[in-house]
Amino acid sequence: MSRRKRRGGTGGRGGAAGASGTRARAAARGGRGGARPAPTPAPAPREPLELTRPVFFVGFMGAGKTSVARRLARICSVASVDMDTYLERREDRRVKDIFAEDGEDAFRAIETDVLAELAAKDPLLVSCGGGVILREENRAILREGGFVVYLRVTADEAASRISDTSSRPLFQDLAAARARCEERLPLYEAVADVTVDTAGKGVAAIAREVQRLLEKEGVLCRQPR
Ligand code: S3P
Repeated sequence: MSRRKRRGGTGGRGGAAGASGTRARAAARGGRGGARPAPTPAPAPREPLELTRPVFFVGFMGAGKTSVARRLARICSVASVDMDTYLERREDRRVKDIFAEDGEDAFRAIETDVLAELAAKDPLLVSCGGGVILREENRAILREGGFVVYLRVTADEAASRISDTSSRPLFQDLAAARARCEERLPLYEAVADVTVDTAGKGVAAIAREVQRLLEKEGVLCRQPR
């Protein structure tokens, strides 16, 4: 399986270098035994992180893709985007209206277009719609365009997390959702670089787990100074 490695985000967040320079000068001026108590050293500045490839979050509706991507973006100071929100703004229509007015096939065609558009941008954390893995064309973009994190959830657990199913035209009925989730399982697994079981875990814990995995895989890196 080939992986395209891209470096993105030229960075340029210079705060860390400035902070350590100030501390170094203060230390040089200081010296032991003076009248003033030694200042408490400032905590080491958090190193900025950068993505070397786009990261796609996939999984069934209610897996927590959007919340986890957002939380991780905040922890690591990297950008994230939700595919459905991006699609709705681009099309100036709600997903549920596209389904109702034009049908699922029309939605899937737009979804493919949006996925390709996001994969071509500077690396982002992308939370994908749950059905993104249905088209082979999309699976190729996911596999070759970035790093795929599969957030696994059962339909029953997803149902307990989704408070309002009105915006999800394909999650109207639990029995159908169970069958759909089961059917999609091999497709999620086929694109996943890593799988994170979300059962019984909160958003913060999942985000930290994903952060560790991305750092280990070299997808999330400390910026060179
Ligand atoms: C869909 C999932 C939805 C949205 C659309 C179709 C699906 O996104 O793209 O309603 O087929 O699983 P979320 O997974 O963010 O709910």
